[in-house]
Amino acid sequence: MPTVTGTDDVFGEVAEKFEFLENFARGYFKRLGFEEVRTPIIEYSWVFRKTLGDSSEIVMHQMYSFEDKDGKEVVLRPEGTAAAVRFYIEKIQSAKPRAKLFYIGPMFRRERPQKGRYRQFHQIGCEMFGFDSPESDAYIIFILSEFFRNIGVQHKIEVNSVGCPTCRPRYSSALKEFFEAKTLCEDCQKRKERNPLRILDCKKDIEVVKDAPNILDFLCQKCKSHFELVLNNLKNFGVKFEINPKIVRGLDYYTGTVFEVFSTKFSNAIAAGGRYDLLVEFMGGHPTPALGFAIGVERTVDLLELSSERNRLGLFICYTSEGKQKAFDFFTRVVVSLNLISAGKGGTSHVGEIREHIVKRFDISVEGTKSLKSQVRYADSQNFRFIAIIGKNEIEKGVITFRDLQNSYQFEMKEDELLF
Ligand code: HAM
Repeated sequence: MPTVTGTDDVFGEVAEKFEFLENFARGYFKRLGFEEVRTPIIEYSWVFRKTLGDSSEIVMHQMYSFEDKDGKEVVLRPEGTAAAVRFYIEKIQSAKPRAKLFYIGPMFRRERPQKGRYRQFHQIGCEMFGFDSPESDAYIIFILSEFFRNIGVQHKIEVNSVGCPTCRPRYSSALKEFFEAKTLCEDCQKRKERNPLRILDCKKDIEVVKDAPNILDFLCQKCKSHFELVLNNLKNFGVKFEINPKIVRGLDYYTGTVFEVFSTKFSNAIAAGGRYDLLVEFMGGHPTPALGFAIGVERTVDLLELSSERNRLGLFICYTSEGKQKAFDFFTRVVVSLNLISAGKGGTSHVGEIREHIVKRFDISVEGTKSLKSQVRYADSQNFRFIAIIGKNEIEKGVITFRDLQNSYQFEMKEDELLF
């Protein structure tokens, strides 16, 4: 039985990569002072309708929306920014006007499914409220780039400025005029009237778009100098980037700096974001500059290469019929003292290492009738790093044998050395 079109089950190696990515992101962004927010997956539709733009692809064609039993229209969230802004205004703005938030979770867009484009996908997003300096634009691009560097994903960053309500209308008119005499695809004919900037994104009209006016020539003085300072700061941070004046983003809330991150392997962006200085006020909050980005989890997972050795984790207990009782005693003793083990430090390096792995993953064979050899084979296939072996020999000597499956060596230890 298939899953709903454009959705998939996450399992096995892919699930491990998801877990790795999410855990790494949590640690990384928390260390940088971002606080996690888990907003609901369903929201009232107003949160996205006006904020993303009535003429955006998402609002026009891709939102999963339905009328709830009380007659109110709700949607499955298509992105995280507008939801984060709703949360910020409603729950924390008055106490904490400057806030750094991050979120991890599923988003829903009814797109035409293809590789790297799903109807349910996941994002890791960061939003910063109350920051207006060009340094903050460069900072957020820098930490995004470092995120990818840390997980070993080669990438390139493209930046642009989409101006503000002072300068963008002039650019829109210039674009409209430029496209007036050109032959455009059916969708872009409509875009020309509603929002000609979107034509720059079109995959069909690439040739026509080539010679279109450059938005950077139309920026007002304020936007121009902000953008120049962002570029200078990016250089100071040592971030490699390209300026791409064709990046306009498909969402209406952006003002000023926008950026997209691409891998060297495929053409879809793996992350994107920008500044949205007017959105908080637009949604009813005190005027507050803000900026952020979202990383596409599926697209990033596709690029992750975790070595199988790196995945080896945990301790698995194997035993012979003579060792069975002692093995289960050991198992229960560990389970009841897990809190102590995770807090415990020190001991010999063997003790420290085994404790470290026990905390991460710990299990016992429950197929007592299987031979020791087949239990070990099972532990190996499940990528356990260590096995504990308890048999006749161990009972007689009063020890447990530990085998490191990654480095192929073993040692004996008394149970009391390991536990408290
Ligand atoms: P976005 O460009 O729509 O921006 O999405 C960000 C990233 O999510 C994309 O670069 C891509 O990696 C991933 N993504 C988007 N749609 C799909 C899909 N259908 N399947 C798989 N991956 C997808 C936003 O969502 C903004 N909220 C980003 C932002 C945060 N701007 C400011 N703060």
